[in-house]
Amino acid sequence: MTDFPAARLRRLRRSAGLREMVSEARVSVSDLVYPIFVTHGRDRQVAVPPMPGVSQLSLDRMVEEVGSAVDLGISAVLLFGIPDGKDDLGSEAYADDGIIQEAIRTIKQTAPDLIAIGDVCLCEYTSHGHCGVLDRGRVDNDATLDLLAKTAVSQAGAGADVVAPSAMMDGQVGAIRSALDESGFPDTAIMSYSAKYASAFYGPFRVAAESAPRFGDRRDYQMDHRNAREALAEMRQDLNEGADVVMVKPALPYLDVIARARQAFACPIAAYNVSGEYSMVKAAARNGWIDGERITMEIAASIKRAGADVLITYHAKEIARALNARA
Ligand code: PBG
Repeated sequence: MTDFPAARLRRLRRSAGLREMVSEARVSVSDLVYPIFVTHGRDRQVAVPPMPGVSQLSLDRMVEEVGSAVDLGISAVLLFGIPDGKDDLGSEAYADDGIIQEAIRTIKQTAPDLIAIGDVCLCEYTSHGHCGVLDRGRVDNDATLDLLAKTAVSQAGAGADVVAPSAMMDGQVGAIRSALDESGFPDTAIMSYSAKYASAFYGPFRVAAESAPRFGDRRDYQMDHRNAREALAEMRQDLNEGADVVMVKPALPYLDVIARARQAFACPIAAYNVSGEYSMVKAAARNGWIDGERITMEIAASIKRAGADVLITYHAKEIARALNARA
């Protein structure tokens, strides 16, 4: 590389075509995973106040929402369920007629090519709101593994293409992989929430999924936000246990973790641009303080530039619309 005046880095910024040709990170519609909250009942659409544009949807409404996502070219959805009732063991998470299982079956009937990803966790389904079963007030790691494995198998049985364990129990990927293999689902992929931080950015999600813990917090199983080396250890373990895709979550405050994971591992890396990240953009845009669309595209590109392959985001439809308008 020479110096100025022979070198003029502005040369390649002169036109939209040139900028596009040399852009280092590209977001495409096929990178996007669109999270959806499904609830029982018919013709129900319950708005989630801290997440403008996001609602809990009954299955019939979900079909419409999924249809509009597919029309925009989106190829994957991540499903969260709001159960009818909650109990100590989160039993609707692994019930054959559970809300997620019904949602997956419905999607496979109405949009068979859409990639259906099931979130595998117990917190939406337990009366105490923790991600596993309790033993004297603490989540019992090993007792939880069985239930997570049952949940994954029941989602695979309903037709899930991918299961995404998010409970942050040690050994959950291994337990799920063996259970899937033993139950005749060797081709169901695992996208593990490997580096999932105990984050205040999940606040709005817990309103959407009605999954806030009734006491305490999740710092006993989710990662401490100050750690990055530990994230690599989590991902390495999950890959050794059979994860096909590893995830970093949240995305923006952890771009360094995505970049380090990209250097360390060859596998696909997913990043989850979570509810609080979404709410901040929406709130500021509503106030006219920022340009919501441009910020959304800048954030999406930053996550890809850091090294993520897959982008899970509530902005998926907006991003798809913007990309389609450019094309
Ligand atoms: C379930 C789960 C959570 C999120 C995804 N899966 C919440 C939590 O751990 O409390 C958060 C997603 C978001 O904030 O958008 N365990």
